[in-house]
Amino acid sequence: MPMFQVTRTATSTSDAARQAALADPGFGRYYVDHMAVVDYVAGDGWQEPRIVPMTEWALHPAAAVMHYGQEIFEGLKAYRRDDDSIWLFRPERNAARFVTSAQRMGMAVLPEELFLASVTELVDMEREWVPTSENEQSLYIRPFMIASEPYLGVREANTYRYAVIATPAGPYYSEPMKLWITPNYTRAAPGGTGTAKCGGNYAASLIATQEAYANGCGQVLWTDGAEHKWIEECGTMNVMFVTADGELVTPALGSILAGVTRESILMLAADHGLTAVERPISVDELLDGLESGQITEVFACGTAAVVTPIVGFNSPQRGEQVVADGQPGPKTREIRQHLVDIQYGRAEDKHGWTVKV
Ligand code: COI
Repeated sequence: MPMFQVTRTATSTSDAARQAALADPGFGRYYVDHMAVVDYVAGDGWQEPRIVPMTEWALHPAAAVMHYGQEIFEGLKAYRRDDDSIWLFRPERNAARFVTSAQRMGMAVLPEELFLASVTELVDMEREWVPTSENEQSLYIRPFMIASEPYLGVREANTYRYAVIATPAGPYYSEPMKLWITPNYTRAAPGGTGTAKCGGNYAASLIATQEAYANGCGQVLWTDGAEHKWIEECGTMNVMFVTADGELVTPALGSILAGVTRESILMLAADHGLTAVERPISVDELLDGLESGQITEVFACGTAAVVTPIVGFNSPQRGEQVVADGQPGPKTREIRQHLVDIQYGRAEDKHGWTVKV
């Protein structure tokens, strides 16, 4: 039984316009014709779940999200297989993280089954918007929640709006990249919001990304807030290092985002002859390891970016350094291919990660 009541748009995108969009979707350039919406009212709970035409919203200018940034989001993808079936990848992990993000931001907690139904029912209705697997395209799904109550006092809001929108997407980064190790900015601190997927974390990152561009890099390597000594994440992604001893090392959870792709790759490491290790890793260990050859490959991972090879660093300490020969490494390419093959149904899904829509 569907949970969402549907109101169809009278002005669906034409087949021709959708085909043109799917031929070169970019990321966030086009949107499916409908969105899922559920409002929350304190004392009354979650209201009627609806799928409605995708339109602008009227929000009171005092809505709390616009002043104090009470907002969280998720990102996951729907993949079209060669037999035309459509699948999600570990959506229950996103549903669970949406709960912990809401708790950290003092927001209403969306029941996980409502999250899963919103995603599944919207994707099912918008199947035609899911691109083919060519060029690793997919439908990127963006569930999010805002504090909608018009109130200027600083406290948790009493009303929230949860919604799901979706955009056909190609690869988020098309090229391997270099990272700038910023001495000036911090993404997260102990006790802060680093583990929550909230908009404020991304807003605060933008100036550091400008600094990365100015230093010839595509993204920032984030370090800890106290000493700028310990590696945390890169850009909007988790970061992983392959060592000469056959380890796949990634920063332990704490103030970083618990990425679904991160967790999945750690579980695939053994299939590629690597031992997964979650532990603190310092900037010095990285920079020394690049010089000595102890670190042989580096990559970033996330839902949007999948696996992005990191081929160099720039830092105030040591200037420009390349990773190995400056090309994407073999383990990076193998792991990326393995993950993508599971997502598109071309490799065995041993862990039962994929869910048919
Ligand atoms: C994702 O990979 O889903 C992200 O959160 C990155 C996004 C901000 C583009």
